[in-house]
Amino acid sequence: MSRMPADESVDNTEERFSFEKFARHHFFKQANAWLVAHSGICSNSSVVDLACGPGAVTELILRELDETVPGTCVYAVDPSPSALALARKRVHSPIVRFIQGSAERLASLVPQVDVVVFTNAIHLVADKVTAFEQVFKTLRRGGVLGFNTTFFDGAYPGETRRFYKLWVLRAVRWLRERGYDVSRGVKATAMQWLTVDEYRALLRAVGFAEPLVELQEKALSRESLEDIGQFSLFIEGALPGVPLDVGAEALTYGVRQAFDELKLSYVPRNWLQVVARRA
Ligand SMILES: C[S@@+](CC[C@H](N)C(=O)[O-])C[C@H]1O[C@@H](n2cnc3c(N)ncnc32)[C@H](O)[C@@H]1O
Repeated sequence: MSRMPADESVDNTEERFSFEKFARHHFFKQANAWLVAHSGICSNSSVVDLACGPGAVTELILRELDETVPGTCVYAVDPSPSALALARKRVHSPIVRFIQGSAERLASLVPQVDVVVFTNAIHLVADKVTAFEQVFKTLRRGGVLGFNTTFFDGAYPGETRRFYKLWVLRAVRWLRERGYDVSRGVKATAMQWLTVDEYRALLRAVGFAEPLVELQEKALSRESLEDIGQFSLFIEGALPGVPLDVGAEALTYGVRQAFDELKLSYVPRNWLQVVARRA
């Protein structure tokens, strides 16, 4: 029997559990396109795409820029080598530089820029004060930070909390029936969920001017939730300690069950969009 070389199988695993599937959904592209359009990018701006992931937002930023103007550039930063590898495959532009690193060290990774775009990742950062301080230092005076997230206190409109609870409950039941040990009471996603007011206070404390804040409701289809349930960081957040392939299967089963039991055709969910200027 022939075996796949070790590094190739690692690449395949990382690609399989990447964020790319979820990022293809229309509502997701729309949320990011709104933010990019409202972050004050001009045709000759210098921009950081912080937490660039597989590069979909890098492409949106490039559409706003004129590559022929000297000084125009994009620094696409992410701590994940596999996400950067996908982004490199996807984005081919002479003005984009890919840099491995995290928000907490941003100012030491890139020169000062006009705009920092930071989509769908702030909730993954444990030390948000340091991350915002680093972004502040990275921005020129008058520069703009645009960030968004759907993992914040306020993301679940109406009764939708019930759906997420049932989703995880059904996934956990599926796992237990197969002999997997899962800790109870885990929230179906990554780290800390801040309120809108807590984000405002953080930005103010770091020195940003009063931000523009919008809540935008999106309709998440069953397929899109199945896709987020295949993303490694989501699986680790929802079902800690469970192997990724098993967790992904359990979450797929859980989504389908929850949709059927609650007779849903979609789940509404809020995106928080924030645009803040460095005073
Ligand atoms: C959900 S993906 C978002 C990708 C892209 N921004 C988008 O909206 O399509 C989250 C990304 O945040 C990155 N990330 C996690 N922790 C981070 C940190 N401390 N600083 C910067 N990026 C981080 C992950 O590696 C991942 O690529």
